Amino acid sequence: MKHIYREGSNKQAPVLLLLHGTGGTEKDLLPLAEIISPTSSVLSVRGNVLENGMPRFFKRIAEGIFDEEDLKIRTKELKEFIDTSAEQYSFDRSNVIAIGYSNGANIAASILFQYQNALKAAILHHPMVPLRGLKLPDLSGTNIFISAGMNDPICSPQETEELERLLLEAKASVSVHWETYGHQLTQSEVLAAANWYKEHFSK
Ligand code: MLT
Repeated sequence: MKHIYREGSNKQAPVLLLLHGTGGTEKDLLPLAEIISPTSSVLSVRGNVLENGMPRFFKRIAEGIFDEEDLKIRTKELKEFIDTSAEQYSFDRSNVIAIGYSNGANIAASILFQYQNALKAAILHHPMVPLRGLKLPDLSGTNIFISAGMNDPICSPQETEELERLLLEAKASVSVHWETYGHQLTQSEVLAAANWYKEHFSK
């Protein structure tokens, strides 16, 4: 997969896996990594699917309606890409924290829904419920930060609550941050994510 790997000054710090939103690239979320953990190594990936020229991580049938078969195939592809990147760049595979926005948050949530121990933690900005009717793996010990907009036309507050409930039922620790805006990524939710990260992962 097209990506940027940047080795951090602290090899012990979690590796940040950055996953952009629809129409984005692997460059988009680099500033977030700087705010959240500037000494971390960064693996920032570009989605392999193109929708009218816009990169995404999986196909959709319409806005908010996912092509579930493609989502499952792409989730496996991304998970395996993290595995091989850990070998190629010699980072600790068990110390990867995803940071995703919108479409990128959705594929990160899909990894959590389908694979145990694939992510140590996740920061999900405006995620949706990626798949329904699945039995989730045991996510004990997995810390998840979700930020959502009370007026998000793409992801309703009910859907955010459903996602939170599914993750809690899988025994993840979940923290939800609410903004009063829509689907956009705001400075204040990034700062909230940075505080959450500091509380859980900075020594
Ligand atoms: C998705 O397709 O993942 C969601 O609709 C969010 C987005 O617009 O990318």
